[in-house]
Amino acid sequence: MKPNISVLGTGYLGVTHAAGLAEMGFDVIGVDVDAAKVARLARGEVPFHEPGLDDLVRTHTESGRLRFTTDHSEAAAFADVHFLSVGTPQSADGEAADLRYVDAAIDMLAPHLNRPCLVVGKSTVPVGTAARLTDRLTALAPAGHTVELAWNPEFLREGHAVADTIAPDRIVVGVGSDVAEKLLREVYADILERGTPFLVTDLATAELVKVAANSFLATKISFINAMAEVCEAAGADVTTLARALGHDARIGHRFLHAGVGFGGGCLPKDVRAFRARARELGGEGAAALLGEVDSINVRARARTLDLVRDSLGGEPAGHRIAVLGAAFKPGTDDVRDSPALAVATAVARAGAEVTVYDPMVRSAGAAACPGLTFSGSLEAAVTDADLVLLLTEWEEFRMADPRLLAAWVRTPRLVDGRNALDHQAWAAAGWSVRAPGRAPVAGQPSRDGAA
Ligand code: UGA
Repeated sequence: MKPNISVLGTGYLGVTHAAGLAEMGFDVIGVDVDAAKVARLARGEVPFHEPGLDDLVRTHTESGRLRFTTDHSEAAAFADVHFLSVGTPQSADGEAADLRYVDAAIDMLAPHLNRPCLVVGKSTVPVGTAARLTDRLTALAPAGHTVELAWNPEFLREGHAVADTIAPDRIVVGVGSDVAEKLLREVYADILERGTPFLVTDLATAELVKVAANSFLATKISFINAMAEVCEAAGADVTTLARALGHDARIGHRFLHAGVGFGGGCLPKDVRAFRARARELGGEGAAALLGEVDSINVRARARTLDLVRDSLGGEPAGHRIAVLGAAFKPGTDDVRDSPALAVATAVARAGAEVTVYDPMVRSAGAAACPGLTFSGSLEAAVTDADLVLLLTEWEEFRMADPRLLAAWVRTPRLVDGRNALDHQAWAAAGWSVRAPGRAPVAGQPSRDGAA
């Protein structure tokens, strides 16, 4: 018989994991302390945008294989395997991860565990957390040492969460016993049958795989953004440089796009948390490297504001600027640590009148982003603009006709913060173009003299 499963924490990771396991034929219960969220999910509604997830949740709440509750005792009575998928944000007073939600989840679940079971951490945590939680769990659970802890990091990307869950490129499990490994092989049997690599490690290595993976991706992005700084100074072109580098199979093309830098709910805080943990452990080399990765990333945002100044030939104050994009990347409505919103807010703070358009994000809260006005369409956002600033490379912007936009704006100036557009085509439509790591492109006057 298949083991019953609970998933604690119903954010991106938890909901997708729970729905994915239901799809694989398990009976799953999702648990969260947020009663309103649980009520929505129980009705089959996903409170955020993730392609394909709505359908999956609806299908399995209707089939009865997927339920949601606020009651930890219900989850404890039902499940044989409990996944921990709660958030580990950056702490308010420093770079380290805030583990209060992980600790709280264990504290709420453990007192109800009165039979042997497996608790499996999926949240991204500092190395050493699993060992600490093992002690906490066995001390609090009535079933004591028959309750085991394993660690199974998650590598899903927002915007691809469903596909990444159902067909991951690898599964990593940190386990302390053969029993735990066997149970996790049962949970992932469908995926393993397809030959997906299954790596069995100790707890510490499993915890580290996740932060090391995200740090490597962040390093790759900051590397190319550092090259963009050099390219600008040398009069070279970072996109051509990246293309040439990427043809070396050892380097590869992915995560080598220079621009406004990385954001989101994961990479920025994971780099910082790993840096803090590496420092605690005496890993000075890792700490120094990650510190530089973070600084380059923060600088990429500031440098985008400099490009706006260059393009305008002065301060943004008094200018009308259309910002294209608010989400931290295309395919999501997530604005956590979004480079787009950070730059848009900085431009507004510098005195510009900023109108933001994002196909998926319709507002971001006046408190979080003072000075930003959200617009309902691309045309409304760019009409009468003195400068168009692209910050999230949505398909709608990539496909936009520069000739049409040139007719809507007051002055055809483009800052392509993501290096996502065809600059020659935009210049041919009359636009002057600035972008990170590339030489300025002057707009070509149109043949009829309109631009
Ligand atoms: C990231 C990892 O890619 C996942 O493997 C991981 O599971 C997840 O974090 C997590 O820890 O939960 P995600 O936050 O969805 O996934 O976003 P990414 O696709 O990695 O993009 C991160 C940021 O880097 C975005 O702001 C994106 O625009 C930026 N980026 C990406 C660049 O600036 N340049 C690039 O070449 C690639």
